[in-house]
Amino acid sequence: PVTSEEHFAPSNIALCKYWGKRDTQLNLPVNASLSVSLGYLGSHTRLVPIDYSADEIWLNGDRLLPSAAFSQRISAFLDLFRAPGQCHFRVTTRNSIPTAAGLASSASGFAALALAVNDSFQLGLNTEQLSVLARLGSGSACRSVFKGFVEWQMGQREDGLDSHGVVLPETWPGLCVGLIKVDASVKSTDSRSGMKRTVETAHLYQSWPLQAAADLQQLRRAITVGDFTLLGQTAEHNALSMHATMIASWPPLVYWQPESLACMQKIWRLRQEGLPVYFTMDAGPNLKLLFERDQLEELMRHFPDMEVIQPFGDD
Ligand code: DP6
Repeated sequence: PVTSEEHFAPSNIALCKYWGKRDTQLNLPVNASLSVSLGYLGSHTRLVPIDYSADEIWLNGDRLLPSAAFSQRISAFLDLFRAPGQCHFRVTTRNSIPTAAGLASSASGFAALALAVNDSFQLGLNTEQLSVLARLGSGSACRSVFKGFVEWQMGQREDGLDSHGVVLPETWPGLCVGLIKVDASVKSTDSRSGMKRTVETAHLYQSWPLQAAADLQQLRRAITVGDFTLLGQTAEHNALSMHATMIASWPPLVYWQPESLACMQKIWRLRQEGLPVYFTMDAGPNLKLLFERDQLEELMRHFPDMEVIQPFGDD
């Protein structure tokens, strides 16, 4: 391996969620999902081969302990490409995700790492293959290899070679994603163990694959015809349906904080008053608002601390 360049991959927000695996080793999903990538917000990663007997993982300028969960996942990913005990790396990752935004960084982190591995081992992979690689690090990372709207085709094969992201040709200038951070004093269960628990214990989960498939169709249509109401409604309904399966798990998985619910109620009220705004949520207490550029000023008045991203620019 050689020293890689610094590679960037964007964060992504799912409008139709990935929740549940049919293969936990390969991160093969139960359902297809669809996301929008967050432009310049994401991870920058570089790999430097080193002579030590272990990897050195740096995140935002701090060296992580080898025992940290993130370090272990990165080293396990690198193990896929090297002979046992051979060639270690200094992995430097810098996230351009404002920590205040409360976004997870594993999707962009593993996508950027896959790009760096391709460079360092000179694998010459195409984007589809890179997406398959990124998926081995974290499922949602397979969507972060691309910009814009990305569908993760679940695939059928047992080896997972047909389970990867595919970019949709449409753009949506003026689409806005607003990040609302809800303070979480309680550490929540990570998505990996959360989805495992849901699959194993929630009878309600049986209805999820059908719901997700229907939502995916609607989202594709919304994106093709540029129907914002359909996009927002479908994304919000999909997120709440996923949370219903989480709550129906045992022990129950409730990612919401009281402020999360207060924020949802505020959005439902604003919508009743005629403001077109919807939200989505992942495995945590934060909300991600979906709205169009015309509503930006009005929404900033209601949510002054919101961080706004325009995935396709603002023209
Ligand atoms: C709720 O991709 O973090 O954000 O494959 O175990 O690494 P692993 O899980 P991860 O799960 C993301 C779940 C989600 C929905 C989504 O992004 O589609």
